[in-house]
Amino acid sequence: MEFRQIGAAERTTTMFPLVAYAFKPSPWAPEDEAAYAERMRFYETTVSLIAEEDGQTLAGVAALRMRQNVRGVVHDMAGVASVATHPAARRRGLVRELLPRLLRQMRAEGCAVSALYPFRPSFYARFGFVGIPAHRTAVFAPQGLSHLVRADLPGEVERLPLSEGWAAYDSAIQRRLAGRHGFSVFDEVRAAEFRELKSWVAVARAGGEVVGAVRYRIDAHGGELVAQDLHCSGPLGRALLLQFFARHVDQVARVSVRHDPADVPELWGTDLEVTSKTRVDNPTHNAPMVRVLDVAALSGMPAGPGEVTVEIVDDELIGGVWHLASDGGTLTVTKGTKGTKSTSPSVRLTAAGFSALVYGVLDPVEVFTRGLGELTEVDTLAAMFPREMPYLFADF
Ligand SMILES: CC(C)(COP(=O)(O)OP(=O)(O)OC[C@H]1O[C@@H](n2cnc3c(N)ncnc32)[C@H](O)[C@@H]1OP(=O)(O)O)[C@@H](O)C(=O)NCCC(=O)NCCS
Repeated sequence: MEFRQIGAAERTTTMFPLVAYAFKPSPWAPEDEAAYAERMRFYETTVSLIAEEDGQTLAGVAALRMRQNVRGVVHDMAGVASVATHPAARRRGLVRELLPRLLRQMRAEGCAVSALYPFRPSFYARFGFVGIPAHRTAVFAPQGLSHLVRADLPGEVERLPLSEGWAAYDSAIQRRLAGRHGFSVFDEVRAAEFRELKSWVAVARAGGEVVGAVRYRIDAHGGELVAQDLHCSGPLGRALLLQFFARHVDQVARVSVRHDPADVPELWGTDLEVTSKTRVDNPTHNAPMVRVLDVAALSGMPAGPGEVTVEIVDDELIGGVWHLASDGGTLTVTKGTKGTKSTSPSVRLTAAGFSALVYGVLDPVEVFTRGLGELTEVDTLAAMFPREMPYLFADF
C-alpha cells in the first residue's frame, strides 16, 4: 500500500470515483466526471492524500484550508472533507492511516485546529474530535414580521446576484470571523466556487457600512424564500434583513433562514409564529465536530483565571503533559511541568475532552460524564474555560 499526496488535477482520476460513489447517486454519467474535473480549480490549495494499491486508489482524505475564530483568536484550520474508502477496501484501516497523516501535515503547515461534518460522530471521536452545536433553521410566515414592513430603519438593503454582491457578502463574513467564536471561512481559492452559485444576496448597509448579508433563493411564487445563514454585525443589520424578508408578504408563504444557535427567533417580533429547530441524524445531518491540533498555538487565547497541569492521553498530535496558566485573562501554554510549581499533572483528558474545554462546549463535569477526562480540577478548568457555544459557519 502506498500513501501519497496528490494535486488538484489528479483528484478526478483518483478521488472522484470514491467520493462520487460514497456521496452521490450512482452510477454516475460521464458528464458528472467532467463537471468534477472543471471544479478542481477550486481545490488548488486543498491537501489531498490517497492510499493506492497496484495502481488503484482505495481511499482518500482531504483538508481544505480555512480559518476559524476560537474564543476570539483566529487560527488556521484544517477543514476535513472527501473522506472515502472503496467499498471493497473498507475496514482495513486505510482511513485510520490516512487521517492522522493528514492532520499531522496540516499541523506542520500551521493549522492549530480542525473541523469537519461527520457521517457518524463516534467514528471521528476516535480521532480526537468532539461535537459542537449545529446551526438552527427558523421558519415563519412573512406576515409575522409585519411590524417591520413600514418601519423607518436607519439603513437600506440591496438585492444582488451573489456574483455581483460578493465583495459585500464576503466583508460581512470576514467581520463575523473576527467577532464570533467558532466561525470559520474558506481560503479565497475554495470560496471562489461559492461566488458562482446561482443565488441572491441581500446586503444591509447603515452609515455606509455593511451591517448584514444573507444568501437566499425563492423556490416558487407562493412558496418559500430559502435563506442561508443570517450574517449580521448586530441588531440593526438583523432588523434590516428581517424587514427585507417581511416585504415578501403575499409573494411567498414562508421564509426559512439558518441562524446562529445563540439567536432567539421568538424575540424577533410580537405575534411572530416561528419554528426554530435543528435536525441531527446519520449520515446526512450531523452537527459539526472540532479538535485542537496544536496546544502551544493556543497561547494568547482569552481564558479565565487559574493554573493547571493536564495530561492529554492517547493522542499523537497533542498528547503529553501541558502546563496551562491564565494571568490577566490570557492563556499561557508550556510543554511539560518544567518551571512550574506542580510536578505531575492533576487531570488527565482525552484530545476530545481537551478540545471540548477549549471550544467551550462541555464543562469539566460533562467531560467526565462523557468519558473524556477525569473528575479533578473541575472548578479550575470551569473558571479557565467557561462555556461559550461556538457557531461554525461553513458552506461545505
Ligand atoms: C467511513 C469510511 C470512510 C471508513 O473508512 P475505512 O477505511 O473503512 O476506515 P478504517 O478501516 O480505517 O477504520 C477506522 C476505524 O473506524 C472504525 N469504523 C470504520 N467504519 C466505521 C463506521 N461506519 N462506524 C463506526 N466505526 C467505523 C473501524 O473499526 C476502525 O476502528 P479502529 O481504528 O478502532 O480499529 C468508509 O466506510 C466509507 O468510505 N464510507 C462511506 C463514505 C463516508 O461516509 N465517508 C465519511 C464522510 S464524513
